[in-house]
Amino acid sequence: MKTLVSIVGARPQIIKASAVSRAVSAVPDELREIIVHTGQHYDDKLSDALFRELGVPAPALNLEAGSGSHAEQTARMLPGLERFLQEVKPDGVILYGDTNSTLAGALVAARLYLPILHVEAGLRSEEMNMPEEVNRRCTDRVSTLLFAPTQRAMNNLIREGFLSDNAYPPDPSHPRVFLTGDVMLDNQRHFLQQLSESEPLKERFPGDAPALVTFHRESNTRDPENLGAIASALLRLANQGIPLILPLHPRTLASFGSLGLDHLLSALKQHPGIVLSGPLTYLELLPLLRECCIVLTDSGGLQKEAFFMGKPVVILRETTEWQEIVDTGWGLTSAIEQDAILAAVESLMRSQPLEPPMMFGDGHAAERIRDLILQYL
Ligand code: UD1
Repeated sequence: MKTLVSIVGARPQIIKASAVSRAVSAVPDELREIIVHTGQHYDDKLSDALFRELGVPAPALNLEAGSGSHAEQTARMLPGLERFLQEVKPDGVILYGDTNSTLAGALVAARLYLPILHVEAGLRSEEMNMPEEVNRRCTDRVSTLLFAPTQRAMNNLIREGFLSDNAYPPDPSHPRVFLTGDVMLDNQRHFLQQLSESEPLKERFPGDAPALVTFHRESNTRDPENLGAIASALLRLANQGIPLILPLHPRTLASFGSLGLDHLLSALKQHPGIVLSGPLTYLELLPLLRECCIVLTDSGGLQKEAFFMGKPVVILRETTEWQEIVDTGWGLTSAIEQDAILAAVESLMRSQPLEPPMMFGDGHAAERIRDLILQYL
């Protein structure tokens, strides 16, 4: 029996962990998983509600790191993680994606010479001023088994010198990369089967299907010009008759006040064509994704989920780590300027390409990851 410790902390990691935990729990005689929550996200909708609705096992430890500067937040996670990993001595540490919780887990596990199993390895936006780009590069560098969701991610890793052949048995000094597919696709397929028709949305928007909009990236919520441009573009879209659903991340909501843009938040709230809310859970968002006409987002996860669902997506950033989506014509990156955002929406709504190609695997990525862990750990 091998013991794995999975470290999660932010919303997208709890979602990704759900797929892997389901696969791991199917082989209870071979693998045992212990979950640690760093406490990076603490609002119910970003954290506890996701554990409940996605069936992720309750964490054995919550480090309650909370918010703060990148350094403060990451630093608060380190001593507790070190103590826990020294005590449990797992056979491997599973890390997800690219958040500060991922980086903290990578630093501690690497110093303890524990094999790091990185789910969603190899993504690159080539934007080193993005905290997530730094986190993912550092994590990949110290990982032992790197699970790439797409061929492009795999190519990035091989270009950076990682091996995909059998030259050595993998260990922390000899990492190995594998193309597994994307666990978020596993999740979408799994949870879509459980969804009933979402009547409230249809009642609310009896006419045209709405656009689904989310944004929370540092680049869009720290700079008043960017936040103002996105909010103004959304108001213009609503004025053109496109209904909008706008679930706001707590950070985005707070930024309107701290950047002196309360008037724009009020205008969004009061617009009859806009439904503004706090963050939604995965299962609350899924029906909206299924019924919307287009997605506008700066979220890495939602870009892909839109694509899986066959919805065009305007990426509210100038680059993306999911360039595959842009290459197929289903996504467009946009400068953070009102006219550019409107033009991207118009262009995607005018011409929709054919069936989205299968680039993210077959919906069984988590089982493949589990089997590779069993094989190599
Ligand atoms: C983090 C990840 C980002 C991921 C996102 C998903 C990093 C560097 N970024 O960004 O990659 O896409 O999670 O949501 O790790 N806040 C709350 N309640 C919470 C959590 C945050 O109010 O439960 C507010 C606080 O004001 C906090 C701010 O959001 O300061 C930022 O939170 P933080 O976890 O640092 O980054 P996210 O923007 O959530």
